[in-house]
Amino acid sequence: MNRLLKLEVKLNKVIDEQEGKFIDRDETLDWERIHMASSARCAWILAMQRGVEPELAACAAAVHDYGRILTGKQKNHAEAGYEPVRGFLQEVGVFNEEEIEIIALAVKNHSLKKEVGSPIEEIVKDADVIDCYQLGQPFDRPEKEVRYNKWREENGV
Ligand SMILES: [Fe+2]
Repeated sequence: MNRLLKLEVKLNKVIDEQEGKFIDRDETLDWERIHMASSARCAWILAMQRGVEPELAACAAAVHDYGRILTGKQKNHAEAGYEPVRGFLQEVGVFNEEEIEIIALAVKNHSLKKEVGSPIEEIVKDADVIDCYQLGQPFDRPEKEVRYNKWREENGV
């Protein structure tokens, strides 16, 4: 089975388990479900353009907000996701240690939108801003808009 689909099924179960845990989540669980799937799709396309393994990049994008899914909080959610997402990825059971570390680092670093990281980190950051824009979420930090506009310019769109 495609690893992205397997991961998405398991992540949706984790999201289901958060139901009722916090009354004041910074994003709704419905948002987390939609953004998970559509940023993964976007990452798959970017990875194909950039010569990066699409499945791994899409899996990293799918889990990039794992910290916020667990805590309900936007603040420091990227760092908060690093350790728990490693455990989650081990449980999914289709990634080796090296892949788990690549994905976990992309989760940890995805809020550093001004910085340039590994190819997968950059795909996750770009997919995040493109997807948020496409879903109608306003840019809450200028560096997100800068990143989005840079991507548009580079692609002539
Ligand atoms: Fe995030």
